[in-house]
Amino acid sequence: MTETVARGLEGINVTATKLCRIDGLKGELVYSGYDIYDLADHSTFEEVSFLLWNQRLPSKAELAELNQRLIAERGLDEIIERLLRELHTLVRPMRTLEIAVEVLGAVDRASSDLTQPQLKLTAARLTAKMATAIAAYHRIRQGLPVVAPRDDLGHAANFLYMLNGREPNALEARTFDVAMILHAEHEMNASTFSAIVTASTLSDMYSAIASAIGTLKGPLHGGANEAVYKTVDAIGEEQNIASHVEAMLARGERVMGIGHRVYKTTDPRAIILERLGHEVAKQSPDRKYFDLSLKLRDYLAKKLEGKPLYPNVDFFSASVYKMLGIPSDLYTPIFALARITGWTAHLLEQYADNRLVRPNALYEGADNRSYVGVDQR
Ligand SMILES: CC(C)(COP(=O)(O)OP(=O)(O)OC[C@H]1O[C@@H](n2cnc3c(N)ncnc32)[C@H](O)[C@@H]1OP(=O)(O)O)[C@@H](O)C(=O)NCCC(=O)NCCS
Repeated sequence: MTETVARGLEGINVTATKLCRIDGLKGELVYSGYDIYDLADHSTFEEVSFLLWNQRLPSKAELAELNQRLIAERGLDEIIERLLRELHTLVRPMRTLEIAVEVLGAVDRASSDLTQPQLKLTAARLTAKMATAIAAYHRIRQGLPVVAPRDDLGHAANFLYMLNGREPNALEARTFDVAMILHAEHEMNASTFSAIVTASTLSDMYSAIASAIGTLKGPLHGGANEAVYKTVDAIGEEQNIASHVEAMLARGERVMGIGHRVYKTTDPRAIILERLGHEVAKQSPDRKYFDLSLKLRDYLAKKLEGKPLYPNVDFFSASVYKMLGIPSDLYTPIFALARITGWTAHLLEQYADNRLVRPNALYEGADNRSYVGVDQR
């Protein structure tokens, strides 16, 4: 039998999951049986977090309990504040987040407790504290006072409040909440796989999440949303779209925010984000990037016609975040602030039924060589 290599593990099921189903040809995304359009219309990030951690929607009391838990974990730990003050001039936000997560693990005495109830507490802790850390990082690097969290705001609204020092209006809060729902989970993507590989050695949840953050950072994965911003920024004006795109493609570069390993039609998350974008644009003084993104999308649709290359989630998240006043180097960290729920949900599944991840590599190197001492080489 000829041995083959599954490059990029494409088409390989590495595990079974109850969390997420994607149909890349139909453009379907379903979290534990609930269609993403339904969740985007009716749910909240907190409720979706519960859904992913428990594979069912919460009762009123369970949702209230989760909200209380997240609120209780929102405070900025002194050690994280010290770390942020040290790192902010040296380290970009994604790596800062990676380090902060490891530090949170270092000071959590329960970090090595891998029982399901404790892991769920850790998942909620990370969800709350990562958001606080990124907001505080942004305040500190601007020389502004850190904004204390508010107990009366939902997770998404509170993050925007801690980031900007201003309570978001209802549309801004809802838009960001939906963006977080859309980014919460996406089956066996590269960063989730990283988390699972780390957990499969029975390393703790914090280290597994730090692995995932490091993987999300790359421009072919979560880093694409910041890269989309840079592309739109470099294009600048509608009349430059054609020349800019042609030059990129001639250099063999990829247009960020376009194409997907699984979706061979438009990513449903991009459709929902575009809809939200139109709403936010009506009240935003900063809609230029969104309008330019729409024109770029239309140009690429003609240019790439016949190829399975369509906008993905990162394409519109960039300009929607821009309209919410979020700086572009926080787009990928924000992806992590939402995906933490999906990552930890997969980790709950992995720890509950662990098997060390240890694939093979097909050896193609030399054989039967005799060692020659360094003086004879
Ligand atoms: C996401 C991505 C890595 C998936 O790619 P993949 O499944 O590995 O697809 P491939 O690399 O096999 O690409 C297939 C073809 O489409 C082209 N292609 C893929 N994405 C492209 C893009 N964004 N722009 C231009 N061409 C692209 C490739 O060059 C390749 O062309 P070829 O067959 O002529 O060589 C890829 O589409 C990409 O790099 N997109 C941009 C980054 C991005 O937005 N990432 C976020 C994903 S949510």
